[in-house]
Amino acid sequence: MSSIKKIGVFTSGGDAPGMNAAVRATVRAAAGYGIEVCGIYNGYEGMIKGIFEPKIKSKIANIIQRGGTILKTARSKEFMTKEGREQAFKNLTSQNIDALVAIGGNGTYTGALKLGKETGIPIIGLPGTIDNDIYGTDYTIGFDTAINTAVDAVDKIRDTADSHNRLFFIEVMGRHAGYIALHTGIGSGAYTVFLPETETDIPAFVSKLKTQRKKLFNLVIVAEGNTNGNAHEIAQKVKNSGFDQDIRVAVIGHLQRGGSPTCHDRVLASRLGFNAVKCLLEGDKGIALGIVNGNLNKVSFNDAIYAKKELSKDLLEMVNLLSK
Ligand code: F6P
Repeated sequence: MSSIKKIGVFTSGGDAPGMNAAVRATVRAAAGYGIEVCGIYNGYEGMIKGIFEPKIKSKIANIIQRGGTILKTARSKEFMTKEGREQAFKNLTSQNIDALVAIGGNGTYTGALKLGKETGIPIIGLPGTIDNDIYGTDYTIGFDTAINTAVDAVDKIRDTADSHNRLFFIEVMGRHAGYIALHTGIGSGAYTVFLPETETDIPAFVSKLKTQRKKLFNLVIVAEGNTNGNAHEIAQKVKNSGFDQDIRVAVIGHLQRGGSPTCHDRVLASRLGFNAVKCLLEGDKGIALGIVNGNLNKVSFNDAIYAKKELSKDLLEMVNLLSK
């Protein structure tokens, strides 16, 4: 028998489509096991300021299809201080919250690791970020929706690039990781991708483009965290190298973070939310959940934060080969 009676749930960091589905699954699964859930608004900020939603159960109908997060989100500097976390824990105790489900990315897990270590409160993390850069899960909640949004945008840019015979550099999100760029590149049949994980040799790219240019237009997907600069900077470098084709830049930006989650993200979020509650009741603490090869996977917060999730070698090899 678990001693957990009330779970606090919150979303933190950059929002991701499917966060609502994860909140809903957490609340409904807990209700099924006779456990109360309290919502916490604005992530760690709300925890410090004591902005709670004890009636979260009455607020989760009609949200599985909604993008964003009904619990709002924030990036909290104060929670990175010991005083901030002490205040947050005091507030949790005053609400009788004795366990947490934290939905977010790396920053969220870092906060959860610290809070868990300092107070002993059981916390389960769910990977909610469009970047797909969390170790211990094949996919993060929101990634599938984001790449579908990006591919849809690139398909549209393809039409105009083709009509004008232009070279387009299209920037997608991913500060430290190239998953969005790599998948968008393959899914949209782009000429190539520029990623944070791989070196980009601009002169070699230009000469290859000149010799191999069978098509009159080309699409290049640039991850925002790419080492050679953002899409505008790369376009300028290519222009400076004497490349004579008409060049344009498009930045997809925060469009990628919004919209109704795909079925893949809804199912992933529901499965993880449900299992977060089960794990808490089984006595797990300080772990991040994910799905690997179709199965539920648990890793420590430490591994989820610091272990490197490698890009698929297959996809990296494919991306240039298939676009020739
Ligand atoms: O971490 C998710 C992410 O969407 C990154 O891909 C992006 O760099 C960042 O958030 C943007 O953050 P903000 O919404 O604070 O501009």
